[in-house]
Amino acid sequence: MRIAVFILVIESVYVSSATPSQQKSFHGHKVLDILPRTESELKSILNLIEEYELDVWYEPKNLNDSLHVHVEPEKLGQVLSHLKKLGSEVKVWIENVQKLIDGSFTPEDNLQRRVIMQRSLNLNKTYYNYSEIMTYLDYVQENARGVHVSQQVIGQSVKGRDLRVLKVSRSSNSAKKAIIIDGGIHAREWISLASVIWMMDKLVFNPRNDPDVKKLLKKFDFYLIPVLNPDGYEFSRTNDRLWRKNRRINSGSNCVGVDLNRNFDYKWNPNRGGSRNPCSTVYSGTRALSEPESAALASFINSLMGVDNGGRVQAYLNIHSYGQYWLYPWGFTTAYPVDRLDLDNLAQVAVTAIQKVNGKRFTVGSSRNVLYLAAGGSDDYAKGSAGVKYSYTLELRDTGAYGFVLPEKQILPACEETWAGVKAFALALAKS
Ligand code: ARG
Ligand code: ZN
Repeated sequence: MRIAVFILVIESVYVSSATPSQQKSFHGHKVLDILPRTESELKSILNLIEEYELDVWYEPKNLNDSLHVHVEPEKLGQVLSHLKKLGSEVKVWIENVQKLIDGSFTPEDNLQRRVIMQRSLNLNKTYYNYSEIMTYLDYVQENARGVHVSQQVIGQSVKGRDLRVLKVSRSSNSAKKAIIIDGGIHAREWISLASVIWMMDKLVFNPRNDPDVKKLLKKFDFYLIPVLNPDGYEFSRTNDRLWRKNRRINSGSNCVGVDLNRNFDYKWNPNRGGSRNPCSTVYSGTRALSEPESAALASFINSLMGVDNGGRVQAYLNIHSYGQYWLYPWGFTTAYPVDRLDLDNLAQVAVTAIQKVNGKRFTVGSSRNVLYLAAGGSDDYAKGSAGVKYSYTLELRDTGAYGFVLPEKQILPACEETWAGVKAFALALAKS
């Protein structure tokens, strides 16, 4: 009886925003593995992808590498017959995307989950929603001891959600060299948000009394943005697990959303790995910085780099999943930055530290050369426009077994290895 009453009380406090009927089903959705053998075959496949507005999960790095693409059941027959005509080698990589999603995270109406949230503790157990993340930020600020924590709202999303930055420093009014880290620019990459929250926790509470954390705070102020695309993130939780973009209503189109990481104002170009089609998952927007989320980040970085702040930002990390990469600019061209070696060296330090934790190998290189062409990324902006020397994109776990749908069980190992990498990177940066 008592227990029943207890449950009822909690029930009335938490209102779940997701009703199962709103959730898009991915039954019958597949991820195909296509191996293009010639340049012209690859070109035809990419054309097919554009024509059918398919979502590429993995792009081949060279001709002996395969491409992974998500295909809806309605399009499957036609896509397969086109591929057959091209003579491409096609395998099914993921048989049923819904199966991958089922059981990968704890629903918000789960009692166990709510108890975890109330304690604001076990960060590694589940992916927090937007409001839980905001509550957690307040919790961190209120409970910080011996370090200074402050929060700043740098703008609002399309739907009016606050974009918050948490600053962690050794003392108030600190104006040391700065490191900016953001997560959740892409909605479905949930581990990215979890990893930034994890970093906050380690920096502020330093549970294992790690001397490295103290060293880092002697040198740097950290600016952490756990969720840069809150509207997209919530939509990926309540409606469409594989949503990537923000939730802009595009005028003249029935398709929603702009890819924020194609929307930044340095060499912005929809023809270079973006798109002018609002229905594309990589829609670049009508113009550079058309979106409030990207505009807010850009002006935040600029404000810390400006004359008043003396160019304080030494490093910028834009966190994504998946693929296991530590990437530096540029994304818009095959050319390298002049200080490529400096960027490469610190990235190597980071991935070596990552590998020591759970054995995961991360690839280092420039975005365009080891991943793919994509203009309008925030990393290119931070370096090219704002002048942040050490600007990177991290692609966390995994390499495709779960892809975007990384199960909760992997939050802990993924966050631990990422934190080890970021720490090693920042320590090396402090010495450079
Ligand atoms: N997966 C990321 C994206 O597609 C990679 C971005 C790399 N950086 C870049 N400027 N292209 O947005
Ligand atoms: Zn991403």
